[in-house]
Amino acid sequence: MIDKVYCVDVKPEMEGKKVKLAGWVYRKREVGKKVFIVLRDSSGIIQIIFRKEDGDAYQKAKSTGIESSVVVEGTVKADPRAPTGVEIQGERLEIIQNVEFFPITKDASDEFLLDVRHLHLHSPKVAAVMKVKATLMQAAREWLLQDGWYEVFPPILVTGAVEGGSTLFKLKYFDRQAYLSQSAQLYLEAAIFGLEKVWSLTPSFRAEKSRTRRHLTEFWHLELEAAWMDLWDILKVEEELVSYMVQRTLELRRGDIETFRKDFTTLRKTVPPFPRISYDEAIDILQSKGVEIEWGEDMGADEERILTQEFESPFFVYGYPKHIKAFYMKEDPEDPRKALAADMLAPEGYGEVIGGSQREDSYEKLVQRILDEGMDPKDYEWYLDLRKYGSVPHSGFGLGLERLVAWVMNLDHVRWATLFPRTPSRLYP
Ligand code: 4AD
Repeated sequence: MIDKVYCVDVKPEMEGKKVKLAGWVYRKREVGKKVFIVLRDSSGIIQIIFRKEDGDAYQKAKSTGIESSVVVEGTVKADPRAPTGVEIQGERLEIIQNVEFFPITKDASDEFLLDVRHLHLHSPKVAAVMKVKATLMQAAREWLLQDGWYEVFPPILVTGAVEGGSTLFKLKYFDRQAYLSQSAQLYLEAAIFGLEKVWSLTPSFRAEKSRTRRHLTEFWHLELEAAWMDLWDILKVEEELVSYMVQRTLELRRGDIETFRKDFTTLRKTVPPFPRISYDEAIDILQSKGVEIEWGEDMGADEERILTQEFESPFFVYGYPKHIKAFYMKEDPEDPRKALAADMLAPEGYGEVIGGSQREDSYEKLVQRILDEGMDPKDYEWYLDLRKYGSVPHSGFGLGLERLVAWVMNLDHVRWATLFPRTPSRLYP
């Protein structure tokens, strides 16, 4: 019995050793009396050579098509000319399933790739993105564990809006109206009274019709909430967490990141403290660059892109006008026009990856904000209770995982950062 190994495990030092590999035919060419197959598995690729004198294995190698699933046995041969410095002299080939024609060819359009996303996932480039996404979350978990945060598991079926009613997905819940969660925040706020520092990773849903390169209707949301922290405390958490995620992923997945990114400067510079500018300063910068924006207006993707030209690492914009931010954000006691809110923006044009704030902890102020927004305090009765029974200063934030991946991997759209993207026009596959 020969043990199965992964492509990445086969090293030149194993010259002469018999190995078994399982995977998919990535490339194939025939030269004279030889068939060269580049085999792909989740770890990488390796070249396998079948010679005519190998008989059955050679004939099978000749007949397999691209993306066929196969099991191969052979002998390791160091060869500096091979793509990975080592290749395999094929001796046995078992075709698990032969593919005559794989629908994805080199010149496939983006739209076609998304239509056949279930097959696009064969691509090592897509796998590189998914590995980086997994590693970013692995790093987040490492950091959260060592910093004493509890993971919690909030509901997805909810009865109220967190981020404005216009982007709620409605659904029938027996004979009542329910929604898909836009953010776990309100539930995390409830959880801090027993656990103090909590986090969750959930899908969040936004019925946003905006077709931008940074909006999905379903995205993965990493959210943290902590008792006894003010805005400045939570910004420290954000920069430490994000820098750990980025540095650890650089350490573990450099090769995968290189699939799409050539310049690592901004990733390397993602170390605390991140620059902090006020909303007022951001408006001044934009106006000085000829952007038509007045104090009090929200910044969109275009404004953020211009702002990111000033920075080589992620940075914070804090002190937004209260009226452009969500109802739960605490009013700045020194300037009631403003909220104790901050966004983290990624450089190189990417813009907002995190939205966070200190939360309004006064019952009266929160009721007033709910009314000002035209909402009914009755719908938030349980949430308002949190301000009646042991209310504490607290803060939190939400990070859009696909947005972080898109920046780290230098992708042109967040849809490439998720397995099966959901957008206004795409619900299949
Ligand atoms: O700024 P947002 O809307 O904030 C909240 O939902 C807070 N309740 C989070 C919290 O404080 N716990 O969203 C947070 C982040 C954004 O910065 C962005 O990265 C991501 O979620 N995000 C989206 N990502 C992809 N597609 C969308 N439609 C997104 N909407 C928000």
